[in-house]
Amino acid sequence: MMSTEVKGKELIVSKIRDGIVIDHIPVGRALMVLRVLRLRGGEGRIALVMNVESRRLGRKDIVKIEGKELGDDELNLISLIAPTATINVIKDYAVIKKFQVKLPDAVKGVVKCRNPRCITNQPREDAVATFKVIRSDQPLLQCLYCGTYLTIDDINAQLAGER
Ligand code: CTP
Ligand code: ZN
Repeated sequence: MMSTEVKGKELIVSKIRDGIVIDHIPVGRALMVLRVLRLRGGEGRIALVMNVESRRLGRKDIVKIEGKELGDDELNLISLIAPTATINVIKDYAVIKKFQVKLPDAVKGVVKCRNPRCITNQPREDAVATFKVIRSDQPLLQCLYCGTYLTIDDINAQLAGER
């Protein structure tokens, strides 16, 4: 079990044995990170640490996941909504790999096209919404099927809402 303890004025969630720690998430975005990863709470064990102090960000969220394999490509998609996030791969309590998330050249299956007539929005077609990354610092995506652009505001709105 993941236990919590209070140390000083900080709430600490215990270290994990094996899994992924997503650190340096902008405050308030932990749930959006779960949506990007398509985790709904039934997979593995997940701890959300929200609004804790961070030297780098002032405040931050952290997500810890045990018992669910996640590939680097999947994890890099987190940069859509949390470009400051760092991924820590944990094995037997040690951090064996650490990297900064980086947006890939294409984004598939995470956000929907906002053109209702796009083939990816037709229930009888099985085209999966796929976007070319036009700009990655402040993400701008373009639908490969119909050319519609998705701005950072569109992306945030989709991943902040219930789906
Ligand atoms: N962590 C964890 N379980 C472990 C090892 C680490 O939950 N067995 C968490 C730590 O609590 C921290 C993150 O993984 O939130 C990264 O760990 P570490 O690299 O040890 O921390 P820092 O050096 O503070 O990381 P950074 O330099 O990236 O800020
Ligand atoms: Zn489209």
